[in-house]
Amino acid sequence: MRPTIKAPRKLIEVALPLDAINAEAAREKSIRHGHPSTLHLWWARRPLAAARAVIFAQLVNDPESLWEHQNPGETPSTQQRGGFTQRRNKLFALIRELVKWENTTSDEVLDRARAEIRRSWREVCELNQDHPEAATLFDPEKMPGLHDPFAGGGTIPLEAQRLGLEAHASDLNPVAVLINKAMIEIPPRFAGREPINPEWQRKSPQEKALRTWVVMHA
Ligand SMILES: C[S@@+](CC[C@H](N)C(=O)[O-])C[C@H]1O[C@@H](n2cnc3c(N)ncnc32)[C@H](O)[C@@H]1O
Repeated sequence: MRPTIKAPRKLIEVALPLDAINAEAAREKSIRHGHPSTLHLWWARRPLAAARAVIFAQLVNDPESLWEHQNPGETPSTQQRGGFTQRRNKLFALIRELVKWENTTSDEVLDRARAEIRRSWREVCELNQDHPEAATLFDPEKMPGLHDPFAGGGTIPLEAQRLGLEAHASDLNPVAVLINKAMIEIPPRFAGREPINPEWQRKSPQEKALRTWVVMHA
């Protein structure tokens, strides 16, 4: 018999702040500058805001379900239930911030989301520490990766990478493969390096020192 895996329900299985996600997904349609849709036309591109919210909510544990796994057979008190609601509301507030276009590159907001994802992963690892394959399946230092085998315009792997996961993409269509290479494979390889173009090379060391190159989270 295969050993059972203890898997608390994820936030997405309980509730989501859909109004905020919908509003940001609709707003994104009119945003051009800096949006991946300007890289290459992709006919079935999904909104970044929705993908970001869904990936986050699929990885974060629902507080009540986590408690049930940590305290099998017990019933939470009214006060504990209030605590679960409070914690859920905190996660919803984070999602409302996370889906805003303005926060797409906000390390302050993204770091909070990445920390919640890591925290949930550690909780799952702790629940499964007695699993016979815990060393490989539930290593708290090794986050699970994400693979989108139908990646299309790359919305899902791009957002997974933004949330700190190792992202993989594949697709039947070579155009989709090219878009994904341009969005999730090549940028992290060159992030943080100074340009090699002739205009930059002509700059003095003093001018160069005024610029720093942002390191992307891969
Ligand atoms: C709806 S699109 C994905 C859209 C994507 N989530 C986005 O945001 O752009 C579905 C993709 O599945 C791909 N696809 C369909 N059948 C496939 C197959 N058998 N193997 C790999 N990819 C396939 C199509 O080429 C298409 O790019």
